[in-house]
Amino acid sequence: MGMKRGNVIALVIMGICIIIGIIGYAAFPTKNPEKPIRIMLMTTAGNVLFDHKAHFTDYGAECMDCHHDISDDTERPEACSKCHLPQESEEAPKRAVAFHKQCIGCHEDQGMGPTDCSGCHLR
Ligand code: HEC
Ligand code: HEC
Ligand code: HEC
Ligand code: HEC
Repeated sequence: MGMKRGNVIALVIMGICIIIGIIGYAAFPTKNPEKPIRIMLMTTAGNVLFDHKAHFTDYGAECMDCHHDISDDTERPEACSKCHLPQESEEAPKRAVAFHKQCIGCHEDQGMGPTDCSGCHLR
């Protein structure tokens, strides 16, 4: 007993959808977007909502101003937290120290952006 013509067409369409789905998933992975838009940094002193995109589109910062592990802006940087650990280590300055130096340092240099605890740490 053969399948009805309508069923065969439905199966072919289903197959095509699955293939498109797989290609779409592989071509546009959602786990690691090229440039995150906003990043919530979790800390015990209150989380920091960091508008990543605004910093390089509206506030004039270059990728390498912050991502000092890359040497040109076609490279994909590593997360700061891969090297800067929560505790003091021999490899790199402690996470909170590195962040405070970079974030507050630039805000002070430019005379713009928050330098008070509550300007960054949400309660
Ligand atoms: C003002 C500082 C700053 C600028 C400018 C900046 N970033 Fe970032 N970026 C960060 C911080 C902070 C994180 C979060 C890192 C973490 O969670 O440890 C991050 C995360 C990322 C991540 C995710 C890394 C991961 O694996 O989690 C990518 C990719 C990235 N940035 C790319 C870029 C690119 C490309 C540019 C330039 C167009 C750029 N960034 C400009 C500070 C900056
Ligand atoms: C591949 C590892 C690595 C990554 C990724 C990385 N760092 Fe670093 N960072 C280091 C090391 C090692 C040092 C100390 C030596 C030096 O100054 O280069 C350092 C130094 C620093 C300093 C200077 C600290 C001081 O006491 O003078 C700051 C600020 C800093 N990092 C911030 C960041 C931020 C913010 C990010 C993410 C946007 C980041 N780093 C990503 C390894 C890394
Ligand atoms: C290279 C310079 C630079 C660095 C590094 C930098 N900022 Fe900024 N940031 C600015 C400037 C400039 C402004 C002010 C923009 C304005 O007021 O128009 C700003 C504004 C802000 C604001 C207020 C406006 C908003 O977008 O929410 C927050 C919060 C902020 N920065 C958080 C951070 C954090 C957290 C980091 C570190 C992960 C950081 N910034 C690193 C330059 C910098
Ligand atoms: C320009 C933004 C900014 C300002 C201003 C700021 N911080 Fe932070 N702070 C951060 C960021 C970003 C981190 C690191 C987040 C991470 O580890 O992912 C951090 C981390 C910390 C940590 C470490 C928490 C943990 O879980 O390890 C403490 C404590 C802290 N800040 C306290 C303060 C205090 C107190 C002030 C005021 C004197 C202050 N911060 C000002 C952005 C800021």
